[in-house]
Amino acid sequence: MTIAIYRSKTWFHLKAHFMQELAVDIRIEKTSKSRLSEIDLKNPNFGRDFTDHMFIADYENGKWGDFRIIPYDDFKLSPATSAIHYGQSIFEGLKAFRNVKNEEEVLIFRPDENAKRLNASAERMCMPSFPEEIFLQALRELVDLDRDWVPNVPDSSLYLRPFMFATDAFLGLRPSEKYTFAIIMSPAGAYYSGAVKVKIEKKYSRTCQGGTGFAKVAGNYAASMLPALEAQKQGYDQLLWTDSSEHAYIEESGTMNVMFQIDDTIVTAPTMPEEDTILRSITRLSVLELLQDWGVKIEERRIPITEIIEAQKNGSLKDAFGVGTAVTIAPISTIGDEKEGDLELPNWEERELSQKVKKHMQGIQKGEIEDTKNWVFKV
Ligand code: PLP
Ligand code: COI
Repeated sequence: MTIAIYRSKTWFHLKAHFMQELAVDIRIEKTSKSRLSEIDLKNPNFGRDFTDHMFIADYENGKWGDFRIIPYDDFKLSPATSAIHYGQSIFEGLKAFRNVKNEEEVLIFRPDENAKRLNASAERMCMPSFPEEIFLQALRELVDLDRDWVPNVPDSSLYLRPFMFATDAFLGLRPSEKYTFAIIMSPAGAYYSGAVKVKIEKKYSRTCQGGTGFAKVAGNYAASMLPALEAQKQGYDQLLWTDSSEHAYIEESGTMNVMFQIDDTIVTAPTMPEEDTILRSITRLSVLELLQDWGVKIEERRIPITEIIEAQKNGSLKDAFGVGTAVTIAPISTIGDEKEGDLELPNWEERELSQKVKKHMQGIQKGEIEDTKNWVFKV
């Protein structure tokens, strides 16, 4: 299998653009009192504290406008806000890191990919696309303004959350005519504290073919909460979702795509355009590119649950791990199956390949390892 590695004209344009050009004028209103001194940046909590500023843009009469960075604050919304009732709401997640070789510099990992995926989600949800240049400019200006909020302890980052939602104050069922796009930022530590226990889900479905699984849609996460909570009550951290028609193939987990190492081969489920039920993880794309460079055999294909159970039993299942922005590389310690019980994996600290992948990914993200792939955007 080969992974198409190419840089489109658009990518060169966007990267050059990120460095120097302004797509639009962004009005900046600075806070009169920073909250930074109230935050413990040595122990950042994922998603609880937010930086001093946020970016906002509004869509009305067929175009985006009023681009602004303002002090972080509550939104004022009509009770009839369309997103609340009918769920036109999408988001992205990406991270910024302090460059370990130059503390003044902040590195954002592959924001151009998030800009593209946001628009793939928008298209599926009948929402307007947001210009990629403005997405990148807004990120750059916002990160620059709140750069002192980027934590500097191991496993930490500034988590960036772009999102878009429908704002029509109208209860008729139709796509909204008005939208808000915003970016908020939160200092973050590790999402999971150790290896994760996952349960193979065979009763509920996260999505289905023809549904919204490939898109980063708020409703996908809402639908997964009850099943995840039931699994947590049974002692698991997360689910391994299976296909909705047979519950026979492993798709992905609640916050990450998954990879299995069977003997020397990495096996992972396909994403768009082959499969529309799985989020096209940017971490997954990056890990596959690294593995390919290292000459590791990769199989992107449907993964029967029976194959994983069999591999665990005969000792060929050497590793299983999740890949995602929030979780980075999350080793899986246990796979729970309703018939087979808990299948245990080898001690994760001794799994060479996923440890190497994690170190390498983090090394590139933090500027320790040379970014030969041009993944990192500097602020
Ligand atoms: N799958 C789901 C359902 C997710 O929520 C995430 C997190 O974004 C991922 C996979 C990983 O995607 P990425 O690596 O782009 O963060
Ligand atoms: C991310 O990794 O960015 C995610 O969106 C996961 C989130 C649901 C916590």
